[in-house]
Amino acid sequence: MNMEILSNHKVLIDEPALDKRVGEIAEQINNEFAGEKVIIVGVLKGSFMFMSDLIKKINLDTEVYFLKAESYGRGTETSGEVKITKDIETDINGENVIVVEDIIDSGFTMREVFKLLSARNPKALKLCSCLSKPDRRECEITIDYLGFEIPDEFVIGYGLDYAEKYRNLPYIGYIEVE
Ligand code: IMP
Ligand code: MG
Repeated sequence: MNMEILSNHKVLIDEPALDKRVGEIAEQINNEFAGEKVIIVGVLKGSFMFMSDLIKKINLDTEVYFLKAESYGRGTETSGEVKITKDIETDINGENVIVVEDIIDSGFTMREVFKLLSARNPKALKLCSCLSKPDRRECEITIDYLGFEIPDEFVIGYGLDYAEKYRNLPYIGYIEVE
């Protein structure tokens, strides 16, 4: 990966827009689960920044866990073969679970994550994703709390990577292909 990309990317969603939308989603979750406990499950690694901002605005009885899903694809394409390589360390039977993801692209990753978690009989199982690329969907996924729908562009920043780089950008950018 060369460094040209850094100068070749453009801002798609800036920090104030992210902050405003994250606040709105947190309010929705706070209202929906008022008086209840929620278990937040972040999908590593991409969700860490969105999740961190989101949970600061959640005022419920909250526990935080991570799981890791890896799809064996090359470059910017998913292979459709998803493996859960790190599981959460708690029993979610009867609990309200909110899975937090960076982006839903083909949907294959979430299909596997939901298959795994729904088999454990949570009371509620919701999906919260910062981004969605609906044009790329290959299986049906319901996103309960969505930050932004975006066009079919490869995005970086705010936790999202290209070859493990650019996760630290505080905004969502997209790579301009000449
Ligand atoms: P899916 O299984 O195709 O829905 O892909 C989900 C995963 O692919 C996400 O959790 C991201 O880690 C990664 N991904 C998909 N699109 C992008 C993108 O535009 N930028 C960075 N990562 C992406
Ligand atoms: Mg991811």
